[in-house]
Amino acid sequence: MSVSYMTHPLIKHKITLLRKSSTGTSEFRKLIEEIAMLMGYEALADLPTADIEVTTPIEKTVQPVLNGKKPAVVPILRAGLGMVGGILALIPSAKVGHIGLYRDPETHLPHEYYCKLPDSIEERQIIVVDPMLATGGSAVSAVDFIKARGGKKIKFMSVIAAPEGVSALMKAHPDIQLYVGSLDRCLNENAYICPGLGDAGDRIFGTI
Ligand code: PRP
Ligand code: URA
Repeated sequence: MSVSYMTHPLIKHKITLLRKSSTGTSEFRKLIEEIAMLMGYEALADLPTADIEVTTPIEKTVQPVLNGKKPAVVPILRAGLGMVGGILALIPSAKVGHIGLYRDPETHLPHEYYCKLPDSIEERQIIVVDPMLATGGSAVSAVDFIKARGGKKIKFMSVIAAPEGVSALMKAHPDIQLYVGSLDRCLNENAYICPGLGDAGDRIFGTI
């Protein structure tokens, strides 16, 4: 698996604002979406293209357009929903699947409660989105489910990751590409990322 760590100053700046406990729900949602768009721009740099003929006001010319089945964005519920708009801003015609997982507060293990993916998933570029990669349990399970349903070309985008989560995902799914906005220091005793940003789902949906 390849892991790409984002270095763009705009992404770094926006992640710093996201972390602040004084950042309220509406600003938090806006930032998550903007970061997803900026990360998506980097992650989708290898989308396939094909040449077509177009006519400009000056002359006919052969130029590239996106080619192949439309990509599928797959947020891990709930917090991944906050990143979908950013990817759709780049590819408005992308399909959207959903995987519902929550971490048991005691064991920190993921539990699936929903999975619905677009058809022909095996032919699509899949972009799984979840702002937080902590123990990696949710990410590993989500990719397990997608592969079990035929998904093959998988990219995973997380805004903030712990080293433990990156290692777990790399070990379980060495064939996928991972994009990380910021690699943080460690997990605490409750499996929260330090320094992190707290509970991403609660901050996006205002359920704190
Ligand atoms: C958060 C986050 C990830 C998961 C990461 O979701 O959005 O899905 O935790 O933790 P892990 O790497 O240890 O599995 P959570 O379970 O809090 O659910 P929510 O999005 O519904 O709040
Ligand atoms: N899930 C979150 O929302 N935040 C963390 O720090 C870890 C898991």
